[in-house]
Amino acid sequence: MAFIEIKNLLKRFKKVVAVNHIHLEVKQGEMLTLLGPSGCGKTTTLRCIAGLETPDEGDIVIDGKPMLSEGFIHSSKRGIGMVFQNYAVWPHMRVFNNVAYGLKLQKIHKKSIQERVLEVLELVGMKGLEDRYPSQLSGGEQQRVALARALVRNPKVLLLDEPLSNLDAKLRESMRFEIKSLVKRMGITSVYVTHDQAEAMVISDRIAVMESGNIVQVGTAQEIYKKPANKFVADFIGTMNFISGEIVQAPRDTDAVCVRTEFAEKVLCTTDSVMEATPGKKVYISIRPEDVEVFTEQPQARENLFKGIIAHKAYLGNFLYFFVDVNGTRIQAQVQHNLPQDEGQEVHLFLDPQKCMILF
Ligand SMILES: Nc1ncnc2c1ncn2[C@@H]1O[C@H](COP(=O)(O)OP(=O)(O)OP(=O)(O)O)[C@@H](O)[C@H]1O
Ligand SMILES: [Mg+2]
Repeated sequence: MAFIEIKNLLKRFKKVVAVNHIHLEVKQGEMLTLLGPSGCGKTTTLRCIAGLETPDEGDIVIDGKPMLSEGFIHSSKRGIGMVFQNYAVWPHMRVFNNVAYGLKLQKIHKKSIQERVLEVLELVGMKGLEDRYPSQLSGGEQQRVALARALVRNPKVLLLDEPLSNLDAKLRESMRFEIKSLVKRMGITSVYVTHDQAEAMVISDRIAVMESGNIVQVGTAQEIYKKPANKFVADFIGTMNFISGEIVQAPRDTDAVCVRTEFAEKVLCTTDSVMEATPGKKVYISIRPEDVEVFTEQPQARENLFKGIIAHKAYLGNFLYFFVDVNGTRIQAQVQHNLPQDEGQEVHLFLDPQKCMILF
């Protein structure tokens, strides 16, 4: 059963529709990520869940209780912990007081506060640093303080808004796993916000991809990577070749969809991703670089085999990429390191019809 239900949520800022009638469910104990480019409405959605914004329409139900439709439930009564986009620890307070602040407002006994703060600091790996000021901490440590502060009141729901964006790349990678394992260990239902697709893929049970205030696809990292709902999603998650073309009548003896492109009269696609494949429709044949097969010698004749010239070669340590010009269309292929071919040389590309998706 859903622990958080977002129903038809609309939030406008004057003429800007920041969140456009979205629906979303987060299961108990699930870690769901809102992923999308800057300005697509991620923070606004999170702030609506937290009770820091008043939506124009819709409802948010947390643990069976409506937050809006039966009267606005104040942020402090929602059982939520939040880590903000700039993690906002208070510079004039020591670590201990930063974390204790929320409990002090609740007028809890001093000894209980002490115990709980130390417990939570230990949980986030900050034991022994409770007397430091934020200026005496590294970025990663400040981030942990922000996390401790969000967790100290034992929230039912944890909301994290780009919590790792201020950290350097290496630290960001290790903190992803740390946050995930901590949240999973505690069993908290959480909504995580990022514009970093790799981060979303590592940290989430499911990802909701947002574009201009809308949710365009919800699924596991694998579902979204393998079966993107449209071109926007495919472009946002991983790397994809998009070959523009137009659907033409397919040969009678196949159930493939046939597309005319700039470099070929027909490219066949047999994936089940094909919908509304009416002749004349403008589409993108989409294939991942790792699915493009490269032959250095002319292979046996087959459909979807095209000759091209290597325009660029890029060595990325763990991968080697060829950027191949096929009659003026650039196609990126991930290839074996031991391929000796160089820029300017001819190769043959096989675009497996079963791996070509048709996207709009
Ligand atoms: N308080 C506000 N007043 C006016 N417009 C706002 C306000 N907050 C957000 N917006 C607008 O609403 C839209 C969504 O903003 P939001 O902060 O939710 O985006 P985001 O996805 O979190 O982006 P980022 O990745 O840059 O943090 C944007 O067009 C933004 O300019
Ligand atoms: Mg934001």
